[in-house]
Amino acid sequence: MTWQDYFAATDRDGRERLTQAAQWAIESLDQDLTAPRSSVAPLALHELAREVEICREDGEPLADVLRDLGDVVWAHGVVPSDPATVAHLHPPTTVPAVVTELAIAATNQSMDSWDQAPMATALELRLLEWLGGQLGLPSSATGVMTSGGTASNVLGITLARSRAAAALGVDVLKSGLPREASTWHILCSDQAHFSVQRAAAQLGLGRDAVTTVATTSDGVMDINALDAALGHLRQEHQRVIAIVGTAGTTDLGAIDPLAEIAKRAEAHNAWFHVDAAVAGAFVMSDTLRPRLAGIELADSVTVDFHKLWWQPFNASALVVRDGASFDLLRVKSSYLDRGDELEGMINLVGRSLDTSRRFDAAKVVASLRTIGRRQFGAMLEQLTSLATYCGDTITARAEFDLVAPVHGVTCLFDAPGYGETALREAQQRLLLRGEVILGRTVIKGRPALKCTFMNPLATTADVDRILDLIATELPTTL
Ligand SMILES: Cc1ncc(COP(=O)(O)O)c(C=O)c1O
Repeated sequence: MTWQDYFAATDRDGRERLTQAAQWAIESLDQDLTAPRSSVAPLALHELAREVEICREDGEPLADVLRDLGDVVWAHGVVPSDPATVAHLHPPTTVPAVVTELAIAATNQSMDSWDQAPMATALELRLLEWLGGQLGLPSSATGVMTSGGTASNVLGITLARSRAAAALGVDVLKSGLPREASTWHILCSDQAHFSVQRAAAQLGLGRDAVTTVATTSDGVMDINALDAALGHLRQEHQRVIAIVGTAGTTDLGAIDPLAEIAKRAEAHNAWFHVDAAVAGAFVMSDTLRPRLAGIELADSVTVDFHKLWWQPFNASALVVRDGASFDLLRVKSSYLDRGDELEGMINLVGRSLDTSRRFDAAKVVASLRTIGRRQFGAMLEQLTSLATYCGDTITARAEFDLVAPVHGVTCLFDAPGYGETALREAQQRLLLRGEVILGRTVIKGRPALKCTFMNPLATTADVDRILDLIATELPTTL
């Protein structure tokens, strides 16, 4: 092969080379897997990896390398499209998104500056404005794509911190935290994602600045407990800079009372961030959309396309109510975002904690356009009905007990009388044998198994089979 053969050019020859190579890559997926993963043991996988030669003195034919990757990696990976892959918010991916990944990589637009991604910048903004509209935000809403829900939450809370400092006349990016920051608090429910704590830690506020508010038995933020926390903090002369509502908690899928939280945030002049990494997708279903009432009042919203929109990693968005919020984040540099750009030359680096960044918006647009809102909504509703079916079946079966009501795409349960060890051993044995990739968590101190339904092609028969497999792993005697 010549040097020319290595590069992904978009001219005719380049496209022919890519077509051939894509064919090999697709053939490498032919692993005849009939379960969510192979049964090769964890240590044996490290042994296998050690045998992979990373870089020889002279290269090898791509067809061989891809075949080898298939035989070594894909053969022993997790198959997100297998109906028994139910541990996490880890979706199977759509064909439009997967093939658009190829175009994204081949054209390699970099989203930090307009001169590396002119039309891609315009399309990313268009997607985020569309998303803002779906969320019910005003036309001033805009945003930026990020690498995931964690990054989007950190960015939203960073904006909240900058705003609180700006209110004191302090440019926190320049001068660091003002003295008053020792009194700053971020409130979220005790079911909120740990990235809220991570944001507080990274922003110099410390994890102790996060006050968690108790949840009801449904896993949603208890508004009385929120009022009590706000009252207490006010009495102690503390300042609440942000309240985070969660739309779809990781384990329970619970959606906090967003409109009620928004009222409190406004009354306390606090930023209202909604972590809708999970349930943001509900905007696509007329049936599920009403559950998000109040999200339109947010200052910033996290939506993860790489969860319930079936996009390959990475694809997340932070949408803000008012694009001017990003002014609090902008760092000028001599080579990027100099401040002397012509009208329309937007450098998205000014909105992002990343510099170089992928054009993930393209695959999302390709999926949305190909599938359309109606089918997106129907597929989501299929997932919630699978979770409901799972909940009903658990309730009807003697071995299992529902740990919490089913809200979204997850179902949490335990096996009464068996205890944590039996649950862990059942989950680990199924994982080791590659039969079911099952979730395991602790809810309000109670250990639980978790099924997270991400594959709309799964059926109620798959749910029955998963539960049967778990039941056979429980000890025969109590
Ligand atoms: C509610 C919620 N927010 C944020 C995240 C973090 O998302 P990511 O893994 O994309 O960083 C998750 C992950 O599961 C989540 O459930």
